[in-house]
Formats: sequence, structure tokens, C-alpha cells
Amino acid sequence: MTRTVYLNGQWLPETEAKVSVFDRGFMFADAIYEVTAVIGGKLIDYAGHAGRLKRSLASLNIAAPVSDEDMLALHREILARNGMTDGLIYLQISRGAQDRDFLFTNDLIPTFVMFTQSRPVLGNPKWGKGISVITMLEGRWEQRQIKTVQLLYSSLAKMEAQKQGADDAFFVENGFITEASSSNAHIVTKAGTLVTRDLSNALLHGITRGSVLDLARRAGLTVEERGFTPAEAKDAAEVFITSATNFVMPVTRIDGQPVGDGKPGPVSQTLLQAYIEDRLASAI
Ligand code: PDD
Repeated sequence: MTRTVYLNGQWLPETEAKVSVFDRGFMFADAIYEVTAVIGGKLIDYAGHAGRLKRSLASLNIAAPVSDEDMLALHREILARNGMTDGLIYLQISRGAQDRDFLFTNDLIPTFVMFTQSRPVLGNPKWGKGISVITMLEGRWEQRQIKTVQLLYSSLAKMEAQKQGADDAFFVENGFITEASSSNAHIVTKAGTLVTRDLSNALLHGITRGSVLDLARRAGLTVEERGFTPAEAKDAAEVFITSATNFVMPVTRIDGQPVGDGKPGPVSQTLLQAYIEDRLASAI
């Protein structure tokens, strides 16, 4: 089925949407993106994603291509035009097109693309089993709080994980886990404390991370925001990742070693259910 995608103010069949070969997103990864989950035609954690989008744009001094109201209206319209009830909305904004030069001028018109990926979001079969990860040296740039499309290192990391029979990779820098290749990493210690890396430029400030931490605190869990090592993760009672695509996904194996008893633990399962209920209730 041909999707209808959004490109710079136009709705086009996906086969007809074309971006310039001089686009700086294409040549310099000079672009930012967001991924928002959709369930039952409603946007999950939209305010968080819309807020981070603006912060990413401001960090790179790219002008927002549309107003906040129009941004929300475009999200609704792309769902309606594609008849999508469940899946993901991907949006990307690049600085724009200009003859190739490392230096750019400040008058470029951003290239704004949106498309849908229709798929079930609830009932992920991996929630019941958990995923396996390998640890790997951090190799990304040091501005990871900006959601740029510089995803080559993460893409190669996932390929390497797949080659080693695992699902994903945890990145390690100066002995501490920064995050997973496209999600935030968390552990639950044997004492029952939820530990997650504190926010800095070392990691993306995940929207799902923020919501899940709120829910954990509301449920009375002790939450510590600090770095943790691969050894602590391997010795934890539970490990899980969070993202708009996974929500709360248990990690049941690290570098081939089972985490706890090798099965998804109660804290991750409770947080997953709480996240789904709470975010569905506030979905727009
Ligand atoms: N990735 N860390 C990284 C490096 C990410 O790429 C993502 C999201 C997250 C989680 O952020 P959030 O909870 O806001 O989705 C953390 C998206 C889903 C992706 O690239 O497809």
C-alpha cells in the first residue's frame, strides 16, 4: 500500500516525495527527528515529543517549520490520510538544501518530512520474553541529548548485536553505560532501587524514560539517577530499556549472561502496564 507522506507543506504518495541531493540532512546528517507511538488513533506522550523536537531544533539553530498548533494538526492529518490507528509517526527536519559546503548560511528553508509506519504497538511478543543485549564501546558524538539523524554508529551496533545473536547493544563510556543504541537503559538493584543514568549530553533525554520514572516514583519505588556499570547491570535483579517503540522492554541477557533468573521481572512488568494505562489515558 502506498502511504501518503508529508513533505514541506504537501501531501504526496511516498513514491513521489523527493528531497534535493543537496539537502544537508542527506550530506551532513544536519537534521533532527522524532518518533511518536500511536494507539487507537491517539498520540502517546505527544507533549514530550513535541517539546523535545523544539529543543533539538533550537540546539542546532534550525527554525521550527510550523507552529505548535500546526504541528499537532499535521500529526492528526497524517493519521487520517493514511487511515492509521496503530503504529509510529516519524518526522524529520533538516536545515535545508544548499550547494555542498561545511559552512552553511542562516537563510536555508528547513526540509520537513513526516511518514507513518503502521504496525501493532500493543502486545509486543518480546515483552513476555525480554531481549538480549551486548555491551559495546560508546562511539557516538558527545551531543547525544540532541535527537539528530546521525544514527550510523547505532545502526552498525545493532548489526553487530544481530551478528552475535543478540537484539541490541548497550554503549559503555568510561566504564559506565550511557544508554542502549536507540533506547534508555535502566536497572533494578537486588535491593529494589530503580537506577537510571542521570541526564546530561551523554544520552538522549528519553520521553518514555521521563514518564516511566514519574510512574515509578508514584508507585513508591526508590529512584536513583546516576551512572551504572555493565557489572552492576549484570548483577541486577532486573534490567530494562525504554523508548517510544518499546515502551518498557525487559532485558533478560547481557553479553550472554542471564539477568536474574533470565525472565522478565515484576518491576519491569508493572511499569510496562502502568505506562500503557497511564499514557493511554492521557493520549491525545
Ligand atoms: N529512539 N536513546 C536513544 C539513543 C534513542 O534513539 C531513543 C529513541 C531513546 C528513547 O527516547 P524516547 O523514549 O523519547 O523514544 C533513547 C527512537 C524510538 C528511534 O530512533 O526509533
